[in-house]
Amino acid sequence: MSKHEVRVEVNGRQRSAHVEARYLLVHFLREQLRLTGTHVGCDTSNCGACTVLLDGDAVKSCTVLAVQADGSSIQTIEGVEGPFDGFSAVQEGFRQEHGLQCGYCTPGMIMAATCLLEQNPHPTDREVRVALEGNLCRCTGYEMIVRSVQWAAEHREPE
Ligand code: FES
Ligand code: FES
Repeated sequence: MSKHEVRVEVNGRQRSAHVEARYLLVHFLREQLRLTGTHVGCDTSNCGACTVLLDGDAVKSCTVLAVQADGSSIQTIEGVEGPFDGFSAVQEGFRQEHGLQCGYCTPGMIMAATCLLEQNPHPTDREVRVALEGNLCRCTGYEMIVRSVQWAAEHREPE
């Protein structure tokens, strides 16, 4: 099987690997780059656990081929940081408002919420729910997740 070189910037660092054309971005991140904070919940574009930022947009990385990401800039949960003891406002919001239990969905939720607040710093509850509608949580209940994002909206410093 022929392989293709993929060069991407991930969390500010240049990375590259040779992969088959059918190789998914989520597997590229997890298996080639060992960035296992990006989770696989379904592999069929339903759950959002694999959400990362691709050139600033939240995408489900199980719906993107690694070769499609060639030349892009990617941020994963490992690249999220901020002024709250090293955590971003979104991460701290999930801690303050109890927005997670098992944590399986959480990296994807945080990436989707981070994207939302970049584009809409003061969303309504409904806008938060719409932005996160592609992200499923089997534990916490969405009420606390919405509150977590609103906590972040109130406390984050615009960049
Ligand atoms: S693993 Fe990508 S949407 Fe579920
Ligand atoms: S915290 Fe367990 S799936 Fe969301």
